[in-house]
This record gives sequence, structure tokens and C-alpha cells, in this order.
Amino acid sequence: MKKIPAYLFAFLLSQGMNAQTDMNSYINDLLSKMTLEEKLGQLNQLTGDDINTGAPSQTRIGKELIAGRVGSVLNVQGVDKIRALQKVAVEESRLGIPLIVGLDVIHGYETLFPIPIGLSCTWDLAAIKQSAHIAATEAGANGIAWTFSPMVDICVDPRWGRQAEGNGEDPYLGSRIAEAMIEGYQGDYSGNDNIMACVKHFALYGAAESGRDYNTVDMSRLRMYNQYFAPYKAAVEAGAGSVMTSFNIVDYVPASANRWLMTDVLRNQWKFDGFVVTDYATITEMQQGGWGVGNVKSVSARCLKAGVDMDMVSQGFVSALSQSLNEGKVTMQEIDQACRRVLEAKWKLGLFADPYKYCDSKRAKSLTYCKEHRDAARRITAESFVLLRNEGNVLPLDKGKKIALIGPMAHNRDDIAGTWSFSAKPDKYKTVYEAMTEYVGKKGKVLYAQGCNLLEDAQTQQTVSQGHGVKPIPRVNDEQAMAEALGIAREADVIVCAMGECAWMSGEGTSRTELQLPAPQRRLLEKLTQLNKPIVLLNFAGRATILKWESEHVPAIMNVWFGSECGDALCDVLFGETSPSGRLTISMPHAVGQLPLYYNQLQTGRPVPDGEPFRVFASNYIEQPNGPLYPFGYGLTYTTFQYSNVTLSQNEMASNGTATATVEVSNTGSREASEVVQLYIRDVEASISRPLMELKGFERITLKPGETRKVSFTITPELLKFYNSELSYVLEPGDFTIMTGPDCKHVSKATLKVR
Ligand code: NOJ
Repeated sequence: MKKIPAYLFAFLLSQGMNAQTDMNSYINDLLSKMTLEEKLGQLNQLTGDDINTGAPSQTRIGKELIAGRVGSVLNVQGVDKIRALQKVAVEESRLGIPLIVGLDVIHGYETLFPIPIGLSCTWDLAAIKQSAHIAATEAGANGIAWTFSPMVDICVDPRWGRQAEGNGEDPYLGSRIAEAMIEGYQGDYSGNDNIMACVKHFALYGAAESGRDYNTVDMSRLRMYNQYFAPYKAAVEAGAGSVMTSFNIVDYVPASANRWLMTDVLRNQWKFDGFVVTDYATITEMQQGGWGVGNVKSVSARCLKAGVDMDMVSQGFVSALSQSLNEGKVTMQEIDQACRRVLEAKWKLGLFADPYKYCDSKRAKSLTYCKEHRDAARRITAESFVLLRNEGNVLPLDKGKKIALIGPMAHNRDDIAGTWSFSAKPDKYKTVYEAMTEYVGKKGKVLYAQGCNLLEDAQTQQTVSQGHGVKPIPRVNDEQAMAEALGIAREADVIVCAMGECAWMSGEGTSRTELQLPAPQRRLLEKLTQLNKPIVLLNFAGRATILKWESEHVPAIMNVWFGSECGDALCDVLFGETSPSGRLTISMPHAVGQLPLYYNQLQTGRPVPDGEPFRVFASNYIEQPNGPLYPFGYGLTYTTFQYSNVTLSQNEMASNGTATATVEVSNTGSREASEVVQLYIRDVEASISRPLMELKGFERITLKPGETRKVSFTITPELLKFYNSELSYVLEPGDFTIMTGPDCKHVSKATLKVR
């Protein structure tokens, strides 16, 4: 007799019961029918790299699916392909349990928003949530039920290439962004425009020593709790359905085998009720990593016992846990629990009720890269650009002028989407040159020359791109290319340079020891500045880069963070239709030797204020200042804002009360623009050393010329708390400095006494 497929069974069961009872009784029943092998199968995630064409049940994954030995796949693309796989899971496996299909949908699916570090520079939570929702809508229409995003790892060392994928250096801002993204992706899971989020990489991946990817992390618990944990916790509290472990060690134990982290902190302290997946091949790599934590059998057992539920790609759980069970190294209860969590995720997504929820090819056609999504991406991308300099008001540009557009990023389609964009369709996107030519139309003229190579070393340049399956930027003859660029620059009224990092110079495995403009690009820029023409540098970057020389020689500099609509968005801002409004979420250093660099530092016993000359026996450097070249929170626009001093509703506050800090902001220039008004707090005296300042609030406002707005922040006890030496979350009464301003460097201060 043909069995009733699991999803149909679930539907029948669901009639007349509430959702939770429904889920529990359904999963209890299902678990009671599952063999050990089928349970371990649910904990196994395979990569779909090998799926090309042909009958899905003939592929490796297909066969494993039929045998009930796989619960999830990643890296399968295309709605029809995914539908076919799902069909095998549902119709050909014994219990018909649907697959959960995951993918790295990091800053969009086919409509690509700025890379996450750029998106964070909008400080616009509504826009960030909308970007996640659009990503979920497109991915969800293309078979994807689960995205490996958001990445919320704090990073204070831009040598690490994955600074590109996170939200910068600040725990407060990172937490708010994490919440917005979870809401945008997941909603209430009811629609096929809601997919499951995966918070990663838990934990501390952004603190890799020397900024070298996959490297050791060593950190005090106090720092974890006060600086690095906040965004993970916020994401969990916002209801994140899953968490991904990190590659690094935490307290000398690989994160995936760290029971304190995965169970005590994540589940017991933060009440996480979703499932945990390892990162790619972590279990395999733990055997190779010299961590001395054993072979595949013992590593798998340790990970399960630590609290990991799904093994990404290593196939350690599926191959070795049954033996560990026989040997008494793991229990049936632990396997059941992990299996239950995976099944619960499928239930919450509605996959038992409709396994094809995300497989509607009509939706895929009508929604993917649709006009509405592109328009939103264009607007949000324009919000992300950070104007660092604009001496002599070089910007905005005049459409009617002759523009020389120069540089390796000016006419480069394959890199425009940015790092981690595996669903990108570069053929559909405009290069900066194409967008600009279209934008100025017949009014002006855009001349183009690549002008130089991206990197000095041809081999490295090729590896950076080809390693990610992307066409490298063409190599050019240096002298000829420079002559061509200088030629068009001489002819032009203004020079716009699109330079910096190509897409894949940031992201996974792209650590750098030098953060200035690569040598061939700098040489060209130097020559161009000698022409004494107005010149703009569009600095494409996936991290904080060093722009010291440029800041002394190039009048206008704007940081640009990729995206499928980057070309059009750039035109909107460069020609003044929109005023720039991005603000840095990372400190931009003077020199690599300053790293790690972040604004929320602790005080030293021998401080040297920024801007003061070098002193002996003090905490400073001989060659460079302590502070950044461009601080956290910083960004210019086409108007000027004036801030009043901060005022407090009262000078004293009870430790269970509230106070209000208010500041007036006026647009004193001649253009409408947005400003991000920032609130910082310092706990002046406490039982442990506390940062000089910490972001505790912000509001993005848009003011017309001459307009003034009052911005108020409510100071609650929550904003004043921290983790003390016992790791208790406390408010210690005393003086607090309340600061407001346009960035962390330019603030006005008031003192609040907390009783
Ligand atoms: C490894 C990366 O660290 C992680 O961020 C990503 O989600 C997985 N690979 C899957 O592609």
C-alpha cells in the first residue's frame, strides 16, 4: 500500500489543533516512525555542486534522498531543479520528509543591494529590513527556504576580508541591524516571501588574529559579553530560526564543539529555540585543524553533544554518530533532540503542509529582478555611499560637462554586484560607464579609459576573481593604459576615478596586509591629480581602506559598496538628484599599524588625545596618531548641519527611571539632505574599565534647507548596563556622560547622575 506522504499527514493532523500542539504531536509521531539512519539523515546537509542535468533521482543527492540520508541541501540553484529534488524527497523517500534548501543570499538574490558593510552605512533600519525582505521574496520564489544570513560578526580589523559581510564595529548598531534583517527575512514565516534566517558565525569569527581568515581567536569573556555577543543575542531574541557555528576556536575549543557556547550561552542563557548548523565542512576541518580534537567519529560526537544539530557537508553525523551511539558516546535522546529541531524548522516554514511552497516558477519569473525591487535597490544603494571629502564642492557634478571616467572599476560588469553574490546575473547590470552615459544623455559626454591594472601582480589578480568563478578585470599594458587615461583626462572638465577593490578582494578568504589603493591605481591617480582638474575618487571597497595620500591630494572622495544598481545609484548621487547620506560603521585608519582600530576603546593610564604631537612614555605611535583618519559615524553630504548642545530633561535619574536627551539639528545649507543623529554614552566610573563612548541610539532625519528638528533620545536603564566581572548584567549608579553629534568625534556632552 502506498504510504501517506508526510506533508499530507501533517495537514490532516493539523485540522482543529493549535499550531504548537500540532507541531509537537506531528513531530513526536514522525520521530516514532523514523529509523536511526533516517534521523541522522535529517542532520545531514549536502552540497548540490554536482547537480547539473538529468533525472534528479539518479544524482548522488537523489539517491541519498531516497534512502532518507539527507535533510538539507545547499548550493542548488534554479526553481525547477529544486522542485525536482523536493519531489524526490517527498515522493520517493520512505517517510516523505521535505528538504530544506539553503543558500548564501547575503545582500540580495538577483537584485543585489550594497554589500552588508555598505548597507550598514545607511543606518536606515527600514531600508535594511526591506532589502532583506526583497532578498527573501526573490530567493523564496526560486526554491530557497533558508538563507545563511545575516552575518553579524563584529570586526575591528579590516585586514579581515569578511568585514565586507558584516555590519561594522559597533555592537549596538549591529544588534539593531540584526533584528531588522531577521524581521525582513522571516516575517512570521507565513508567506513564500518569508524564508528562514541563519545568524552567523557563532561566535567571534570577526576577531581572527591578525585579520587572517580562519585564524585563532582569543578573547576574554568580558569582551565577548560586552562587545562581541550583542548582535548574535539580538538576532536570537528577534526570533532567528537558525544559527551557524564559526570556524574559529572560542576559549581554545572549536566553536562547533564548544558546549559552553552552543548550549550554556545560546540555549540556556539566550533561550534560542531553533537549530544550529556547522559552517561548511567544519567537522572535516576540525580533524585537520591541528586542534587535537580527534577523528571524524569523536569530532562528530563532540559537536552533537555541544549542541550542533546539522552537519554542513562533512557527512560526519550521518557516517559516524551511529557508532558513537553504540559505544555510548552519544545518546539517542541527543540525536532525537537534534532531529526534532531540524523537523521543527521545516514545520515552522510550512514545508510539511506544502513542500513546494518555494517552488513556484511563475513567481520566480515575475518577481526576480523586477522593476519594484530594482527601484528599491537603487534608492537604498544611493543611501549607502559615504562622502568622505568634497573640497571646493567638486560634487555634485554638472550633467552638461565633459567627464573622464577612469579606472578598473569604471566599466566592469562582473564585479559590480560585489562579493558573495552567487545568484548575480552580471549581464543584466549596468557598469558605471554605461549608467553614466545613459544618465547624461545628449547633455554631456562621458569618456572612458581603464587606465591601469587592478593589481600589480597578474597572477594574484587572476586568482582573486577566478577563484570565485568571476572573470578577472582585463590586464592592460601599464604605459599605454596610462597614456590613454591621461589623454581623455586632459580633454575633460572633470575626472571621475572608479578605483579600489574589485568584488572578490573582500569576502571569505581575502585577508590583506596592505589597505591602501593598489600600486598601479595609485600611480595613475597621482598622475591624474597633477593635471590640476576637479577630480573625484569613487573608492570601491569591501572594508575600511587607507586613503591617507588620497585625502591630501584628491578633493572629492566617496566610498562605494557595489550592488546590482550601483551604476544608476551613483549617477543619482554624483549629479545631485540625491544627497549622499551614508555614515561610516567602521573606523578608517591612517595606517595598518594602528589595527585593530575602533572608536569604543577603553581608556589607558597614559592617554594621548588625538591631534597632539608624539609623546614619550605615553600610549601613542611615533609615526601616526591614535585615532582614525575618518571616524565611526562620519559622512558628509551636499548641505551642512548645525547641532545645538545636548540638553537633558533632568540632571539626575533613578536607576529604575528614565531621562531624555535632546538636541536640535538645523540644515544650514541649500539642499535637502539626510543626517544620522547619534547618541553616545560613557559610564564614567564603574567596577570595571568601560569604553570612552558607546553608541546607544541614532535617528536618521531628512531636513529641507533652513529646517530645524528636535531629536530626543530616551535614556533607559538598559542603555546604561554592562556585564561586570561576574558576567552579571548590571547598572552601577554614578555619573554618565551623555553625548550627541553627527559622528563619534564631534559630540556635545552633558552629565547625568544616576542614583
Ligand atoms: C562558508 C562561509 O563561512 C559561510 O558564511 C557560508 O554560509 C557557507 N560557507 C556556505 O556557503
